[in-house]
Amino acid sequence: MMRNTGSSAQYICIYATICGVTSLLALYGTMEHLNKGTSKQQISNSNNIVEADAVTDSDIASQTTTMVDRDYHGVDFPMDTTLRAIDAKMQRVLENASAELTNFGRHVTDWDKRKPSKQNSVLLVSSSHPRECENAHGDHVLLKSLKNKVDYCRLHGMELYYNMDMLDDKMAGWWVKLFLIRMLMLERPDVEWILWMDSDAVFTNMTFKLPLEKYKEYNMVVQGSEESVYKQKSWLGLNSGVILLRNCQWSIDLLHEWARFSPKGKIRDGAGALLSEAFPDRPQILEADDQCALIYLLLTQRSRWGPEVYLEHSYHLQGFFEVMTMYQSTFPGMGLTWWPVITHFTGCQFCCGLPNTQYDVESCHRHMELAYKVANNQVLHHSGYSYVSLQSSVVKHS
Ligand SMILES: *[C@@H]1O[C@H](CO)[C@@H](O)[C@H](O)[C@H]1NC(C)=O
Ligand SMILES: *[C@@H]1O[C@H](CO)[C@@H](O)[C@H](O)[C@H]1NC(C)=O
Repeated sequence: MMRNTGSSAQYICIYATICGVTSLLALYGTMEHLNKGTSKQQISNSNNIVEADAVTDSDIASQTTTMVDRDYHGVDFPMDTTLRAIDAKMQRVLENASAELTNFGRHVTDWDKRKPSKQNSVLLVSSSHPRECENAHGDHVLLKSLKNKVDYCRLHGMELYYNMDMLDDKMAGWWVKLFLIRMLMLERPDVEWILWMDSDAVFTNMTFKLPLEKYKEYNMVVQGSEESVYKQKSWLGLNSGVILLRNCQWSIDLLHEWARFSPKGKIRDGAGALLSEAFPDRPQILEADDQCALIYLLLTQRSRWGPEVYLEHSYHLQGFFEVMTMYQSTFPGMGLTWWPVITHFTGCQFCCGLPNTQYDVESCHRHMELAYKVANNQVLHHSGYSYVSLQSSVVKHS
């Protein structure tokens, strides 16, 4: 799972986007998890499971003084001693972080009073590089990816905000999503949910409607599982390439806490080193990334954030493009009808940066084209048309 890391080409092209760094990100879609249930569900359905977890964690902490994460629906979750020691160092690294984020804005604390009550409106947000892509065809791929999002929004009565600006040099790269989400929450109190999607992810099920009713007790939905986040403590335990976040005070508080890992330079590098210490499966030389920082917050401040986060794995909210290939070769034909809601081309680096050495550029482009065509065929279907074949752009009456 090692990604191609730290090339100068990648750093040159990190601007207001995830460009150049997604190859380092987690491929949750490649992992299978059997664990069922989420925080609130687990608490209400089976107290036994929760108690069993607590006992196991206490054992790990081996009777030493343990910082207990209290108040988690009355159940204590001890942080193990290793994590506790890392967290003491982490807090020192992060101590002046908020002061560096001058563009991020003042921490609004009365948002729930100022915002209308819950509705079901969703605003889709994505972002790409302010400049032309360095890689051949990168801009064309981004245009298709944007068209795909425009179509999904049109079919579902949603709005789209697409960023191409350099909003904050301290939060450049993969951190721009936090800036944008916060900015748009405050601009649009009428919007209940923000759906973030990386620019290298496309909808591959155009008819799928987010089951918002299912998430009514939660403030955040990401693909992941309790097992891989809280038990395996993996930096791939969830995937932050697609995030559904409720517009509310809890989310604004989370964004401020989360953004502390972001200031480029000493803080981001220092926090990155400590994240790699906390998560053994994480590459060593990687600056702090938003995905791992989120998992870190869930582990170290579980009572504060955990209960509101729905780790979705009951359907494929997002899938990794190579899994689709595997699926197609195992079940020929199925690949064209069975797709995740969103297919993510993590590591393909369509726009700039060096692609992950595991993938060949040709395969990335071929699968992107297939995903785009599969999705667009569903769009055409609404008007009674379809592609002659998925290898063609020619359309016929269906
Ligand atoms: C934070 O700021 C204080 C006051 O300027 C300074 O003494 C301290 O060394 C800073 N901490 C870090 C980790 O840079
Ligand atoms: C899209 O999702 C819906 C609901 O889960 C499902 O019925 C449908 O078959 C899916 N379509 C595709 C093309 O995967």
